[in-house]
Amino acid sequence: MRQPADPTIWCPPARMQVLPLQDATQNLHSNLILHWHLAPALATSQDMSEFDFLSGIDAVPPTPILIAPQPVLREVTRDVRPEDIAFIREQLPGMFSAMYKAPGIGLAAPQVGLGMRFALVDVAEEDAPREPMLLINPEIISDSDQLAAREEGCLSLPNQYAEVVRPESIRVRYRNLAGETIEHDASGLLATCIQHEMDHLDGILFVDHLSTLKRNMIMRRLAKEQKLGRR
Ligand code: NI
Repeated sequence: MRQPADPTIWCPPARMQVLPLQDATQNLHSNLILHWHLAPALATSQDMSEFDFLSGIDAVPPTPILIAPQPVLREVTRDVRPEDIAFIREQLPGMFSAMYKAPGIGLAAPQVGLGMRFALVDVAEEDAPREPMLLINPEIISDSDQLAAREEGCLSLPNQYAEVVRPESIRVRYRNLAGETIEHDASGLLATCIQHEMDHLDGILFVDHLSTLKRNMIMRRLAKEQKLGRR
């Protein structure tokens, strides 16, 4: 499902224009952002050596996943900065372990209480080789006019499912752990999953795409099941 990034497309330095250089602290921050935006080239794919820890992932204790209506699930996350990378690296084994054990195909930072703009995705079939992706500061740079309806669920809304309509295919731009820019064309389940995870980074849950009536019904059912101690 991966397609190589198009090396002719360059990341516009949009954020450079909105960072005022007012004091020393901001100055330092701006320079770091600047550095990321001036990364010399687009990486063509995710570096799989970033995920070396996955070989022993079954033994890693899963990070607890927060269940709605936890307020942190409704917060808009902040961009990941270069100085956050070491911390994110430490979080990854527990987060991947939680996602695979659930089992789920995506997990966003707010679902484990982190207000940072990154998410994990792996839509590989259960008996197929893993296809882990880590999307740092992801942005959708184009999407198809063609829409697709797909049933969605969420590890933060256990046992609740509903059909959601979204663009059938997208092009997403994100950073990897090395700070390289990656562009990736996704369609089908992967496109749905990436859009669902990116919604989490803005405090949006899949039920927000449904009618108020349907959303309230699901949230009430979830609350009731949680009270009864069901998963
Ligand atoms: Ni979710």
